[in-house]
Amino acid sequence: METKFLQPFLLLFLAISVPCLSDASYEEQARKTMEEFSGYPVDSPPHHYSFSPSSLSVDIQGLQRQIEELSSFSDAPAPAVTRILYSQNDVLARRYIKSLMEQAGLSIHEDAVGNIFGRWGGTEAALSAVATGSHIDAIPYSGKYDGVIGVLGAIEAINVLKRSGFQPKRSLEVIMFTSEEPTRFGISCLGSRLLAGNEELAIALKQAVDGQNISFLEAARSAGYAVHEDDLSSVFLKKDYYFSFIELHIEQGPILEEEGIPIGIVTAIAAPASISIDFEGNGGHAGAVLMPARNDAGLAAAELALAVEKHVLDSGSFDTVGTVGVMELHPGAVNSIPSKTHVEVDTRDIDEERRNVVVNKIHQSAVRIAENRGVKLSKFKIVNQDPPALSSNSIISTMREATKQLNVSFKLMISRAYHDSLFMARISPMGMIFIPCYKGYSHKPEEFASAQDIANGVKVLALTLAKLSAE
Ligand code: GLV
Ligand code: MN
Ligand code: MN
Repeated sequence: METKFLQPFLLLFLAISVPCLSDASYEEQARKTMEEFSGYPVDSPPHHYSFSPSSLSVDIQGLQRQIEELSSFSDAPAPAVTRILYSQNDVLARRYIKSLMEQAGLSIHEDAVGNIFGRWGGTEAALSAVATGSHIDAIPYSGKYDGVIGVLGAIEAINVLKRSGFQPKRSLEVIMFTSEEPTRFGISCLGSRLLAGNEELAIALKQAVDGQNISFLEAARSAGYAVHEDDLSSVFLKKDYYFSFIELHIEQGPILEEEGIPIGIVTAIAAPASISIDFEGNGGHAGAVLMPARNDAGLAAAELALAVEKHVLDSGSFDTVGTVGVMELHPGAVNSIPSKTHVEVDTRDIDEERRNVVVNKIHQSAVRIAENRGVKLSKFKIVNQDPPALSSNSIISTMREATKQLNVSFKLMISRAYHDSLFMARISPMGMIFIPCYKGYSHKPEEFASAQDIANGVKVLALTLAKLSAE
């Protein structure tokens, strides 16, 4: 009762105060939000482990060469990288990753959708393994580091531990996830969603087609996967199949670089949603059809894009974001009124309820706009509407202890980007390590992480894996 009564005042306060926050109060607000969201206290007890961190050395030149080599498997000219699921370059890049896993002495297996696993058997192989990994697919015209650091860095972390003479008790496993990016089939974290046992997705993928009307199964088969099966439930892993899962990733935001902190320890991952929308109008000649006679599907899409921005801003929180990243006009001629439009919306928040309010408002706007403009809302499909995920407190403690032993400072932070970790958290205790990236750039060719920052991230990962494998 009382909280309900206070809510309008709280929202009003936020609306007034958010735009004029000073640096210090911004910092305080961000810390508070992070603690409330993740429920994780800032200080935790130390974890004792006898591994010698000084024996860990990263072959950073080798790792940087691998990053460059991997970036050459791309459909876009350098420095941009485009690597789409099951394309020829994706298949070549997968081959490259498998060759590195082989060189690291890992035993490799792949599942029906092409999640790749490389295992270093532990001395107590019956115990559940400690896993780490990320993705190597890249959205159109993106960079070399998103996901890649978490795959190549994971293989290097294994090499680091091997060179140090370490023997894991629990097996260590590197995972390269299939299609973290939603580019080809519109489904983000496709590989990790399936690993986490998403029945609905396993069924939906049988019917899924890409923009060229190529089916998911046909595309997978062209890359050598799902050859003898169309039941993708073979990919599912049981809950607690892994003892823990850790992902190393660039921050994709500016905080670590701005604050000069080399490591981010992620406490929670924000809740993403995406929506696919189609409008259909009458189209017609751009000169001959007068304005009152039009049912312009292009203007419906444009109006919806502005409505998305409005609903997001109306949430009153800077943690709510929304993007219209796809807007296609048909037939796409300057002298033709758009008869069909396809729009894709991405909206996220650390607060799932607040994000859901935005999704509902976008739906209401789409219906209203279609009515007002006399166009048909032929599709309004919520592609995904995922809850947030929390990191495991005990993994956070282990990572904190690793940073302390390696003498690198860290900051606890929220991931506003989604990652395969969001889904791995459903079947395993999860943790993420962030490293700084230049100006926070990501999903564009200017993405960059320095040798020093990558080496720090790999060391923290290696030491964390070593500790977890000994538990
Ligand atoms: C991941 O690529 C994301 O969009 O957060
Ligand atoms: Mn990405
Ligand atoms: Mn990524």
